[in-house]
Amino acid sequence: MDLSFTDDQRMIRDMVREFAQKELAPKAADRDKSGEPPLEEIRKLAELGLMGMRVPAEYGGSEAGTLALALALMEIAQGDAAAAVITSVTNMVAEAIYRFGDEEQRRAFLPKVLTGDFPVGAFALTEPQAGSDARNLKTRAETDGDAFVLNGEKTFITSAPISSVFIVMAKTGAADRSAPISSFLVEKDTPGLVVGKPEKKMGLHGSPTCTVSFDNCRIPRSNRLGREGDGFKVAMMALDGGRIGVSSQSIGIARAALDFAVGYAKERQAFGAPIAKLQAIQWKIADMAMELDAAQLLVWRAACLKDAGRPFTREASMAKLYATEAANRACKEAVQILGGYGYVSDYPVERHMRDCKVTTLYEGTSEIQRLVIARHVIGE
Ligand code: CAA
Repeated sequence: MDLSFTDDQRMIRDMVREFAQKELAPKAADRDKSGEPPLEEIRKLAELGLMGMRVPAEYGGSEAGTLALALALMEIAQGDAAAAVITSVTNMVAEAIYRFGDEEQRRAFLPKVLTGDFPVGAFALTEPQAGSDARNLKTRAETDGDAFVLNGEKTFITSAPISSVFIVMAKTGAADRSAPISSFLVEKDTPGLVVGKPEKKMGLHGSPTCTVSFDNCRIPRSNRLGREGDGFKVAMMALDGGRIGVSSQSIGIARAALDFAVGYAKERQAFGAPIAKLQAIQWKIADMAMELDAAQLLVWRAACLKDAGRPFTREASMAKLYATEAANRACKEAVQILGGYGYVSDYPVERHMRDCKVTTLYEGTSEIQRLVIARHVIGE
């Protein structure tokens, strides 16, 4: 599907499509088995300017914008879903550093996230007792002379072992629910930052997800990102953008599943003809294609609003809810079209189905997106 994209947006989409099909897709099944992150490919994506697409060129970004990022993430996810989430979260982190950081922080941290051996960022909000209820944090940041000392545990942190910079949300002041939350920049290898073993997950095996503990982790006072007490808003605003990225990722995964299922349906014979001739299969394909196009339009609306500097929280949540649910339905139907072959790992659709599931969970579950949408509609 094409709309009135600019030449630059088309050029980025086509370039990323070629990269994803040549360099990511052929290795995705192996990485699903080995669990190895696609680091070499991520470095190449960083060289192509794909990690800081909302960061101005003077800070090392490509300034391509949210719509271009959405197009790129759909293409990356069609090649390898793990590379897409790593790219999406890194863009979210880089943009937050640019948007909320002071000049010194931008100059110090953006090159670390956007270039080098580990051009990857991590977003450390979730804790064992604080997932959907994201304000219920226990991690604390206490001042000690010219430092903050972090203590606590974060869980399900995407890209933790391969990230150069972490944005960490922690409470300051009194240790209760109402204590203010601030956000902090923590570099990898800071003493006291301990990355646990990657979780054994249903899918997205090439994207390492770990516990991250802070054990008297000292960081300079100058590493607070944004004002004291603004950390929750920093997190929510970053997540509004991140949700457009996850929506795009889910559509890319589902498009890969749809393409494979269509190719299969044209080949597979039953009752004397390809199964693509059967209405039972055609209706599935029609619904999958229509829902993915509808999802894409919701994503583009949210992305265009963000690029125009207009409010887009409600639209991002609608895109995330609809796209990730539609993408999961499409992956499930792709497996159904392949029948028994859909269930075995010789064919990619079972991997797509496993990879896609988490998109309805991370960066806010479907239930949280409904909550956000309803609050906006009702006007609370
Ligand atoms: N933009 C700006 N400010 C916002 C905001 C937004 N989108 N959403 C909320 N806020 C502000 C509110 O205006 C409010 O400000 P005041 O105190 O000044 O009034 C403050 O934040 C608190 O907001 P709420 O009262 O709405 O807070 P809440 O406790 O009811 O929670 C929630 C709201 C929507 C449920 C939120 O907790 C949420 O989004 N939960 C899901 C968390 C989530 O998405 N986690 C993802 C983890 S990260 C991840 O998955 C990344 C990865 O690695 C893949």
